Amino acid sequence: MAIEYRKVATLSELPEGSNLFVEVDDQPVALFRVEGQVFAIDDVCTHDGGPLADGKLCGFEIECDRHGARFDIRTGSALTMPAVENVRAHHVKVDGETIYVAINDTGDLPKEAPPSPASKPAGESKPAAETPVGPPVGQDDIVAALKTVIDPELNVNVVDLGLVYTVQTRGSEVDVEMTLTTPACPAGPEILRNSVKAIETIAGVSKANVKLVMSPPWSPARMTDDARDILGIF
Ligand code: FES
Repeated sequence: MAIEYRKVATLSELPEGSNLFVEVDDQPVALFRVEGQVFAIDDVCTHDGGPLADGKLCGFEIECDRHGARFDIRTGSALTMPAVENVRAHHVKVDGETIYVAINDTGDLPKEAPPSPASKPAGESKPAAETPVGPPVGQDDIVAALKTVIDPELNVNVVDLGLVYTVQTRGSEVDVEMTLTTPACPAGPEILRNSVKAIETIAGVSKANVKLVMSPPWSPARMTDDARDILGIF
């Protein structure tokens, strides 16, 4: 089926390193221009609907303003908690000054950067190959494992508490950055130990590296609705 591109903006409206909100077939889309290429993903964070075009762009990652989830703008992959679902990455092409986008209705996650014949900076234009995308161990499995780790003080799992900041894989190794509700949390060592154990039970994981970070500090705003229900916070 032919892909139907819509004219959405011009390159002058999207300077290098910037974000732009557009609508394509009545759907909210966030545009980004990085290293001369243009990318388009859904403008709706899969965590709680935050507008990604308002987020902070860092390289090929956009950080949602609301609770800090990060997505790969090339593929729509959810890279960090609290988002666990990908957003759609859409087809982009640039003709002269004009940017066109076609909605990716299949919902399939592109295996590599969606094409943005976009940038004219002549010559080289290989999709960046510095970061491996498509890890062998699924984020869903890691998140499910971490959901079995309970903060004994609050009796809520560390994922719903919003303690897990980043989850990344390097081959069979898993790197996690997580925090505690307070730096002096007496259950901290136990939580970190149990997180390592839980991840290392996943088939295909050889090692879990769980790092404690205190920045940004945890706040109740990071909790999911499930955690709020359990704790009776509304
Ligand atoms: S809405 Fe985007 S991280 Fe929560």
